[in-house]
Amino acid sequence: MNTEDLGNSKILNLLFKPAGVMMGSRLRRWLMNPVKTLQGAGIAPGQTVLEVGCGTGFFTIPAAELIGDQGRLVAMDTLLDYTKRVSEKVQSAGLKNVRVIKRDALDTGLDAASIDTVLLFGVLPFPSLPLARLLPEMHRVIKPEGRMAVWLFPVSGWVPKSIRQSGLFIYVSKRNGVYNYKRC
Ligand SMILES: C[S@@+](CC[C@H](N)C(=O)[O-])C[C@H]1O[C@@H](n2cnc3c(N)ncnc32)[C@H](O)[C@@H]1O
Repeated sequence: MNTEDLGNSKILNLLFKPAGVMMGSRLRRWLMNPVKTLQGAGIAPGQTVLEVGCGTGFFTIPAAELIGDQGRLVAMDTLLDYTKRVSEKVQSAGLKNVRVIKRDALDTGLDAASIDTVLLFGVLPFPSLPLARLLPEMHRVIKPEGRMAVWLFPVSGWVPKSIRQSGLFIYVSKRNGVYNYKRC
């Protein structure tokens, strides 16, 4: 079974429910301001953004508000339950600039060079997002002058090292806990 089919599994969706609750909890909001983290990634009005592994949408709604009506946000996750919840949140917030897609980010199906900023927030390291496959796909979809922003949870020093060693991205800065890379 591939990752996309796994995301439909009732058992898996049930198992991930508590994690989903924690991801959107008040405690997390109290500990972490999503807007500040998104600003660390340079998210700005008018951008086209891909959010990999949007989960239950902790970053999705604030990101959509930051990019505004002229921006476009693709929020992608493999878990059916999560994408449904994010779609509901997007709808009740009245946002028209978000497309929620249930899909494996290792094969996004997006056009090449179509994205200004990729957000890898809280998704690395993750077993179903191996860097050896994820980075080439991110490199493909990011515009030549585009950026990839990584917020690590848990903090893992080998991830920034592996990104640098991939030869696909150049480290630019670390702001508000976010590692920013430009596409080579
Ligand atoms: C730890 S959660 C983080 C969610 C969210 N970014 C946040 O910080 O609240 C990791 C998310 O990545 C998703 N994910 C894992 N592998 C994926 C893949 N190959 N493609 C898309 N999403 C994936 C999981 O379903 C999960 O929602």
